[in-house]
Order: sequence, then C-alpha cells, then structure tokens
Amino acid sequence: MKILAFETTCDETSAAVLENGVLRSNAVFSQIALHRRYNGVVPELASRAHLEKMPFVFSGAAGAAKLKLPLARGAVDAVAFSRGPGLPGALMVGRVAAEAAAELAGAPLIGVNHLEGHLLACEFENGRAVRPLVFPLAVLIVSGGHTELWHARGYGDYKVLGRTRDDAAGEAFDKVARLLGLPYPGGPEIEKRAAAARGKGPVFPRPFMEGTRDFSFSGLKTAVSYYLAKRLGREFYRGRRRLPAGEEALVCRSFQEAVVETLVKKTADAARSLGLRRIAVGGGVSANGALRAAFSALEGFETRFAQKRYCSDNAAMIALCAMRRLKAGRYSNSLKVAPELAVPGWK
Ligand code: KG4
Ligand code: ZN
Repeated sequence: MKILAFETTCDETSAAVLENGVLRSNAVFSQIALHRRYNGVVPELASRAHLEKMPFVFSGAAGAAKLKLPLARGAVDAVAFSRGPGLPGALMVGRVAAEAAAELAGAPLIGVNHLEGHLLACEFENGRAVRPLVFPLAVLIVSGGHTELWHARGYGDYKVLGRTRDDAAGEAFDKVARLLGLPYPGGPEIEKRAAAARGKGPVFPRPFMEGTRDFSFSGLKTAVSYYLAKRLGREFYRGRRRLPAGEEALVCRSFQEAVVETLVKKTADAARSLGLRRIAVGGGVSANGALRAAFSALEGFETRFAQKRYCSDNAAMIALCAMRRLKAGRYSNSLKVAPELAVPGWK
C-alpha cells in the first residue's frame, strides 16, 4: 500500500511517500525564515510560498521514493492531503496538488484532519509506523493554532472534551517571545532560555479554568506583559528595552512552568475522570522538554509523544492517517465539505 501525501496548513510545505507503513520520503520546506521578520506567520505570504515551493518539495519527495514523474496510473494507491484546520489560502495549495496527483494516478483522494495527523505522528519511529497507539486514550494536541483535549476511543473516533477559547499554547509561546523581543517561533527560544535560568523567578497565574475542560492562555500572556511593563516602564511599550539575560531566562522559565502545569493538570484530570491510563501528546509544542518531562513524571499514567522530528508539521503524519483510513475502509472520494472543516473524527 503506497500513499502520497501533502501538508500545507501553515508554514511548512511538505510531501511524503509512505509504503506499507515505511516512510520512503518526507520532504519538508520550512518557511520560518520568510515569516521571522514579521514575528509570526503572514497568511498571504505563506500561500504564495507554498505555491512556489510545492513543485520542488513534491519532486524531491517523489524522487527520494523512486516515484517516476509525471505520475503514472496506479503509481500510488491513494493521495492524501491536510484538509484543515489551517490557513485557507495555504490549504488550497495542498488540496490542488493532491487532486492533480490523484487524477494522474487514478487513485482515491483522502482529506485528512491535520490535528489527527499530529496524534498519529506518535506512531513513527525512525521512519517506520511501528508504535501503534493503544486505545482508549486521552489526547492533548498542542500546536501553534490549536490546544485540544480529546477522548480517543479508536482510530477516527475522537470526542473533543475541550479546546482553547483564545490563544493556543504555541501561540502563547510565540506572543510571549515577541514581548521579550525574541524571534519567531517563540517556543524553542523560550525553552532554550528557560533551561539556563538560575534562582527564583516571578510566579505567573495558572489558567486552570476550573469547571471546564477548555483552555485559555491569553490572561497568562497579559500577566507577562504587565510584569515587563512594570520592570521596563514606558520603554517596554516602545519595544526598545529588554530584560537583562538572567532575568529574561527566569521569566521564560516561569512562563513555561505555568503553561506546562496547566496542560498537564487539565489533561490528567480529564483522563482520571474518564478512567483512562494512557495519554498521547502531539503538535509542535509537544517537542518541549519541560512538557515531556512533566507528563512522564505523572504517576499512574503512560504518556506517548512523537519523536521530536515528527512533532512539527509534516506530510508523513498525513500519509499515516490515510493509511489507517484505507485499512479500515473508511474514506470517501467526495470532499464537498469546506476544506477548513475542523471536525477531527472520520464521520
Ligand atoms: O504543530 P506546529 O508545528 O504547527 C501548527 O500546526 O501550528 O506547531 C508550531 C508551534 C509554534 O507556536 C511553536 O512556537 C511551537 O509549536 N513550538 C514549541 C516548541 N517547538 C515548537 N513550543 C514550546 N517548546 C518548543 N520546544
Ligand atoms: Zn500542526
């Protein structure tokens, strides 16, 4: 079973070929350098960059997988793409590429939910899908655009328990980094500085949002901005002054601790109340070492993460979702629904 997949939801252009659960290729072009000077992803620039890079990314992935171009009929058994959630203009590029490839290959076209991709990325080990998830599971997806908690009862059977009401966890990392004058994407920058922090730092609030499984990180971001305004005065608002390195590291660590504690507590509470012992964490923020350590230290739970190279956006995880659907016979060539549809299940 050979699957060709495309991923273009945000700022990574990616194409992959998965054959019987083994990755033949997974080409990823990251647009980070393009967006860095704007301190975040500019949707219109992202769409244009996808359009410009897709031919190279696709031919790179096809070449590495020894797929001859133009694609011959029967060259692959299915073509998959991320159908959402994501930036509308960016999504269209992947969809059009996938439609063209499916037409040439005479293969079914499978639209995959991007967040399900982040979950199934946990199954890869060095290019092989050899670590199948064991259900039922509590799932935490933490990416740049989403923070979601699911009860997963099987492949394609996901009940959303809670999601963010404002900023996603990754977005909070990016925005706090921006407040500190650090480059985009903020997650790895904050993690690096937090690891170097020594001594006692400020304490920021934990947005546990008692009584709901939803998340909210914008208040925490505001708490960091109040702290900075107090420390730096008017110059902070003009973006001209930064904290001394030692104090900056402490703020990074305190902020990261608040996010990690909130994510871990809310996920563990949900898992406990549903009698689940297994947790899986996916998405860009799941690369964070402090988050991984805190989940691993949870007693009574077994937590799975993707290998770090599969945490950020890639087409390999989209191909794997399509493989699971093909195996279950649960897919349809009809994709009349809006491409940005954010329902994670297979219905
Ligand atoms: O899943 P992803 O690659 O793209 C989306 O689907 O959004 O996630 C990107 C997000 C960014 O907000 C980035 O700052 C965050 O993941 N991120 C991290 C780390 N690496 C990436 N956040 C915290 N710690 C990290 N090490
Ligand atoms: Zn993502």
